[in-house]
Amino acid sequence: MAGAAGSAREATTVPPLRLVENSQFGAIPPDQLTAMAMHNERRTGLSRALYEEFRARIADGTYAAGAVLPSTRALAAERGLSRATVTLVYEQMAADGLIDSRAGAASRVAAGAAAPAPPRRARAATTAAATVTATAAGGLAGRLSRIGQHMQALQLADPRPTQPGEIDFVYGPLAGRDFPTSTWMKALRAVERQRMPRLEYEDPRGNLELRRALQKHLSQSRGLTCAVEQILIVNGSQQALDLCARLLINPGDSVVVENPGYRMAHHAFEAYGARLWSAPVDAQGLVTQRLAAAGDAKLAYVTPTHQFPLGAFLPMARRRQLLDWAARHHAWIIEDDYDSEYRYTVRPEATLQSLDAHGCVIHVGTFSKTLSPQLRLGYMVLPPALAETFAAARRVSDRHGATGMQRALARILEDGSYDRHVRRIRRLQQARQHALVQALERHLGPQVTVQGAASGLHLVVWFNDVPAAMEPALVDAARACGVRVYPISPLYLPGTDERQANPAAGLVMGYALLESDTIAAGIQRLAEAVARTRPGQGG
Ligand SMILES: Cc1ncc(COP(=O)(O)O)c(C=O)c1O
Repeated sequence: MAGAAGSAREATTVPPLRLVENSQFGAIPPDQLTAMAMHNERRTGLSRALYEEFRARIADGTYAAGAVLPSTRALAAERGLSRATVTLVYEQMAADGLIDSRAGAASRVAAGAAAPAPPRRARAATTAAATVTATAAGGLAGRLSRIGQHMQALQLADPRPTQPGEIDFVYGPLAGRDFPTSTWMKALRAVERQRMPRLEYEDPRGNLELRRALQKHLSQSRGLTCAVEQILIVNGSQQALDLCARLLINPGDSVVVENPGYRMAHHAFEAYGARLWSAPVDAQGLVTQRLAAAGDAKLAYVTPTHQFPLGAFLPMARRRQLLDWAARHHAWIIEDDYDSEYRYTVRPEATLQSLDAHGCVIHVGTFSKTLSPQLRLGYMVLPPALAETFAAARRVSDRHGATGMQRALARILEDGSYDRHVRRIRRLQQARQHALVQALERHLGPQVTVQGAASGLHLVVWFNDVPAAMEPALVDAARACGVRVYPISPLYLPGTDERQANPAAGLVMGYALLESDTIAAGIQRLAEAVARTRPGQGG
């Protein structure tokens, strides 16, 4: 009741009920029309809210046909409304055929006023998401495309919210406090002040100012040379992967992927019917010697600057082997350069794109790791032969990304503030990583092996005395100690042998959200959890 009265109070600005147009039943006497004309805004809003409440309940069957409505006097008293307001609502409902009201008799819900019950199949689609997943397989049979069916089967879980006081070593998000808010706002304001005389659709490849700025930036920071026509601005790397999967893969084609690897890329390929060919990863990254067995794979997806998640940097000899393989097999290579800004010990080496003599490398980058994943700003550097096709696909799917954001990004790339921000944030992240490594050494020492500390925003930590099968127990024990950690096993392709290469439990530990003291406290808690998890401790 309180809720209904509250919503009525909020609804004072909605347009008045349609009183005359629908009064074909002649239910509203002229004197009441005069009274209605005199409604103040508040009263109109209250009557509208009450009307909508009845209409919704009659439509969803809460008030069934024939059900008796309370008298206008009782309802007015219950809701704290004037009787005239309630009477008007009843008359409007009668005029709209929702209720039957006769002088001297109680008003009743009219027969046929409720919406017919949805057929069983349609009803499944309107229930809660969990029920949809459980029941829709049969209900949607034959009604989803192959891609739709694949998406349905994926069942990707939304991240569980962090509990108060929990220390979260998640990898992916950045800290809001690290975002260069004033720089970004200044750039946004400046570009919005220069409103363009014509607000027209942009080039599907993206805003030209941004592509020019990026061309210069990539040449300076990554030694990558390309024409502006080869650059396509995308809504984050994920859109780049989706476009590659759509435009380069036919159902049944085989795609080489690193194992363990970036599962969001794997999902994009599998959605379009790719068969994933698992390539093992060792301390130097993708084991390119194994590619000879990859047969006629159409595409290889790789993270050569910072293998995700193990952190290796692919050495030059393997880069050349990979490029040779692609040239021999007319295969494409997607080079995902997702966090090359965070190399702490050495400068990032030449990209695959710069070594590519055969036009087979698609270079993909993102601003999700330096600015924010919420901006959805990334880019592709395409081989010239693919540029037109990808631009056409982009035009057809969503025309292009938001122009204001692209122009703001162009501005901060051009005026040097982006580079200054990256230098600042790199120092911050390096300090956090240092704190994490130190805390691991201090609290867990020889019990752990740390991998991937040369770069990035995460580490892989192997627990030498905890078997891989106990990873879930370790995660649960950590949770009980107030620390949230993420197992590495889900990053291995299901049904492959690669996970067995390392018998230890492993965690992917992100540090971008945490300050050094919190990191130290988190690792102390984790050490307690490990002590509870070691075999023989009763898990
Ligand atoms: C390997 C890899 N590539 C790319 C991305 C970035 O994706 P996006 O640009 O879609 O935000 C991530 C994010 O975590 C990643 O781990």
